[in-house]
Amino acid sequence: MKEARNIVLTGFMGTGKTSVGKTLAEWVTFEFSDMDAIIEKEEGKTVPEIFAEKGEAYFRQKESEVAQRLARGNKQVIATGGGTVKDPKNMEALKEAGIIVCLTASVDTILQRTAAEGERPLLDASGDDRRAAIEKLLAEREALYKEVDYTIDTDGKTPDDVAGEIFSRFEMDSVMLPSF
Ligand code: S3P
Repeated sequence: MKEARNIVLTGFMGTGKTSVGKTLAEWVTFEFSDMDAIIEKEEGKTVPEIFAEKGEAYFRQKESEVAQRLARGNKQVIATGGGTVKDPKNMEALKEAGIIVCLTASVDTILQRTAAEGERPLLDASGDDRRAAIEKLLAEREALYKEVDYTIDTDGKTPDDVAGEIFSRFEMDSVMLPSF
């Protein structure tokens, strides 16, 4: 039997990590920890500003620090950034910390959701159009998004639908939530 000391949401941009994470955290009364939001607060800048002013390497270093710190905590739903999977050390720590759920979506859905949300440094700086940039990054990361405990497709689903599916899967496998 596995215990979900923390629930970690991973997946590409636009797969709903933040909205599903908030719903899940409310349902199980865990703290909601959104890695991008924590980085933005600590840096006093938005993610696009950090990329533009300090570069991706700086952002990744900060992201790793936050992943390691959160992995030491308990009873959190952690929404990672889409690129957190790229550093094996991040995932090693987060796997130790709890159950990893990867949210997925079709390229069309990702395109729609990321367009609605505005600036995305990695998609906009590539020189490709957004669809091509998404396809390329998804292909690069495909294997990394598969190294998880659960994969849940989010196409056409609300955050409540997805959170409900995650719980059904936990129930089927007798995944326990911490009792402390
Ligand atoms: C990134 C995803 C973003 C953010 C940054 C880099 C990525 O997070 O961390 O722009 O490399 O996929 P979301 O997945 O929450 O949009």
